[in-house]
Amino acid sequence: MDALRRMEYRGYDSAGIALVSEDALVSAKKAGKLANLEAELEASPLPASHLGIGHTRWATHGAPTDTNAHPHLSASGRVALIHNGIIENFASLRAELETGGVRFRSETDSEVAAQLVGRAVDEGLSLADAMRAVAGRLEGTFTLVAIDVQTPDTLVAARRNSPLVVGVGVGEMFVASDVSAFIEHTRDAIEMGQDVIVEVAADRYRVTDFDGGEAHGKPYHVDWDLSAAEKGGYDWFMRKEIYEQPRAVAETLLGRFDADRRLTLDEIRISESELRTIDKIVIVACGTAFYAGLVAKYAIEHWTRVPCEVEIASEFRYRDPIITPHTLVVTISQSGETADTLMAVRHAREQGAKVIAICNTNGSTIPRESDAVLYTHAGPEIGVASTKGFLTQVAACYLLGLYLAQVRGTKYGDEIAAVMAELESMPAKIQQVLDRTDEVVALARELADRPSFLFLGRHVGYPIALEGALKLKEIAYLHAEGFPAGELKHGPIALVDEGIPVFVVVPPRGRDQLHDKVISNIQEVRARGAYTVVLVEEGDDEVAPYADVRIELPHASTLLQPLLAAVPLQIFACEVATVLGHDVDQPRNLAKSVTVE
Ligand code: G6P
Repeated sequence: MDALRRMEYRGYDSAGIALVSEDALVSAKKAGKLANLEAELEASPLPASHLGIGHTRWATHGAPTDTNAHPHLSASGRVALIHNGIIENFASLRAELETGGVRFRSETDSEVAAQLVGRAVDEGLSLADAMRAVAGRLEGTFTLVAIDVQTPDTLVAARRNSPLVVGVGVGEMFVASDVSAFIEHTRDAIEMGQDVIVEVAADRYRVTDFDGGEAHGKPYHVDWDLSAAEKGGYDWFMRKEIYEQPRAVAETLLGRFDADRRLTLDEIRISESELRTIDKIVIVACGTAFYAGLVAKYAIEHWTRVPCEVEIASEFRYRDPIITPHTLVVTISQSGETADTLMAVRHAREQGAKVIAICNTNGSTIPRESDAVLYTHAGPEIGVASTKGFLTQVAACYLLGLYLAQVRGTKYGDEIAAVMAELESMPAKIQQVLDRTDEVVALARELADRPSFLFLGRHVGYPIALEGALKLKEIAYLHAEGFPAGELKHGPIALVDEGIPVFVVVPPRGRDQLHDKVISNIQEVRARGAYTVVLVEEGDDEVAPYADVRIELPHASTLLQPLLAAVPLQIFACEVATVLGHDVDQPRNLAKSVTVE
């Protein structure tokens, strides 16, 4: 149950377990959060066992009910199976099984796998061979884990595209979607490749491919411990992760210089000569990571003069994008498992492009399938709404942009060093923002009953506006929209009426006219009755007459301001959601790591 609790962030609409006990499979499944299953097990405990499987679900096929919860049992009751992913050809497989007399208990795609494996072991195959045979028939994405009452010392897992790691303990073994499930017991993990079967007993594991040939996982040691995956006194993981941002960003930036203060991104295994031939950069990501990419575009184009596009991963491969061997594709994914992003990686590589992954999760699929990886080193992010993931992704993209500028000679060494020095000053400034949040918290309490919010920004402030709005949608379930401040007058300004809260990210005063233009945009909405909340550099008094509320940020240059401006918006959303009584870490309908397309 502890392991399931740590996995719950990946899906939390129902949960279940199955155990091998004596000569029988016993199981319990409950719709709703894990607490419901816990209550059920307290009321009627299952017998002791040393082999079991458990699952928390994010529904795709079939509503979140008790019967649709996993594990699913085979018709004879001999096999129990859990599944992550989507079995795309489930309808034809189900029809085949039904014609053969199998009666389905659930509406899920997953049950076909349980029934197929059950039928195969009934026909005499070992559980591993049955899983192999079934894996070969399934289309789509899956991690399957099954137990067979007749082999009570071994479980078998099969993996194609969905995540799976093995944890190696002393006299005990684990398999899970990610290491946080077993970090309490062991930090030694084995990364599984694609299309593998792993048989696991208490003291051994064996990896084979779908044809039965020997295969090998890649062992690694997890560099964080259980305390990183616990709330540490905070009410929510999200709040803890917001407050971890100074350290997380510092970790992203750590150790990136050689003795001559030249950037060295050790993990970038693409040669400098290849990076010089790049004529286009395409950033691909989903959700918050996409917004990190939108921020990065401004910096990367400015520093490298290479055109940079940013694209939603689920749109990328279906529009026949123009990708050549001279395109550098940069994917951004906190989890490294997002199916949409993974498919974009594969598509890009098929077109001959080099792919660099910006990722937070060691051992995950996207970095493994990419040509190079830049880890953000933010530590585990468990709150479903990404916070430290976002800031560290922006920081990592900036490192990459500066590195490309260094390699391609579009910036002098001292210019790069100056930006790096400013980047290195950001953790302390993020801390300053976190040290004065009383005003944002009070504002959240004041505005929590408003039905609708707008967020405006220009330049890098625009993706920050989008991210501020997304946070509020994700966890407070409020209508919120982000717009480029200059675009508002072309339509969305019609949404502005008396009292609507409008958050505006004001760029620092500088050489360009950006600052003054944004001030004009604030006046436009204020004149129409908006309640203006401005995020502004301290000491900038020009905006004062038009601001109902000022949230002050320490000084940063335009390109680096997003690392500060995002923070009050995260805190605002977290507080509004708390006031409204929502589960901040597990918002309705969402999952942290979406492993289906
Ligand atoms: C999900 C989460 C978002 C996250 C997005 C991308 O939709 O709910 O918070 O931004 O996936 O996740 P990734 O792990 O690829 O960064």
